[in-house]
Amino acid sequence: MRGCVLEAVGLHRGFGSVRAVDDVSFTLREGGSLGIVGESGSGKTTTARIVVGLDRPDAGEVRVRGRARSGPARGRARQLARAREVQMVFQDPYLSLDPRTGVEAVLRETLRLHFPAMDHARRVRELLDQVGLGTRAADALPRDLSGGQRQRVAIARALAVEPAVLVLDEAVAALDVSVQAQILNLLADIREQTSIGYLFITHDLGVVRCVTDDVLVMRHGAVVEAGRTADVLAAPQHPYTRLLLESVPRPGWDPERIAAARRAL
Ligand SMILES: Nc1ncnc2c1ncn2[C@@H]1O[C@H](COP(=O)(O)OP(=O)(O)OP(=O)(O)O)[C@@H](O)[C@H]1O
Ligand SMILES: [Mg+2]
Repeated sequence: MRGCVLEAVGLHRGFGSVRAVDDVSFTLREGGSLGIVGESGSGKTTTARIVVGLDRPDAGEVRVRGRARSGPARGRARQLARAREVQMVFQDPYLSLDPRTGVEAVLRETLRLHFPAMDHARRVRELLDQVGLGTRAADALPRDLSGGQRQRVAIARALAVEPAVLVLDEAVAALDVSVQAQILNLLADIREQTSIGYLFITHDLGVVRCVTDDVLVMRHGAVVEAGRTADVLAAPQHPYTRLLLESVPRPGWDPERIAAARRAL
């Protein structure tokens, strides 16, 4: 049994009167994949931002390999070490990639920062290969790339840091279904090759089924159900989870009935 790499304990975060995250706890095993699902506004991104350190919880703690990361990171070395614990991939890599920086330069910048003594040219080739981009993409700017290719660059940049955990917030939501499948396969391969753990945030239960071992269902900032993904999807215990499952459009799907059930919940 592999150990726990990431632990969130009793996270709270409010914005005015909104309880965006209300007592959220979970653990992620080394090399595991945990999904967080829930409808819009349920607190998924706020949870992710707290885990990464972009936002501070009002209460609670995030630990990586037993070490708290919610407090201030004093000093450059500690900040870099903290970045190597958790990296994030966002929904829209267009916003997170500098439009004037080429693919190779992006990766070199990250490597220089974290691993000054490394053979950067070699590592860049490895990373491009790992995300299926090939060296031809090395000089490309973000605007020269497709959405799927840009997301591959964002993944390569995150992997360059050799993080323990990758947080993916709707990382495939903006892509065509066929490209989504390619990126999900890529992420599954990377998890097999490395011991990286995923925190996979999505509103898409199909994605959860594909790439997670465990799942957390959030509603109004709180966890309403958690368990093995296969178990939760096969036999959801909470009415809200059942509703989420029923809300996936398919033949015979009745939006009126779903809306009525949602109001009644
Ligand atoms: N910076 C902020 N200021 C004020 N309210 C915020 C802020 N960030 C989030 N919220 C509120 O907190 C709640 C949770 O938002 P969050 O973005 O975490 O949800 P989400 O589950 O990621 O939703 P989505 O699926 O739409 O991305 C929402 O009610 C949102 O309006
Ligand atoms: Mg969100």
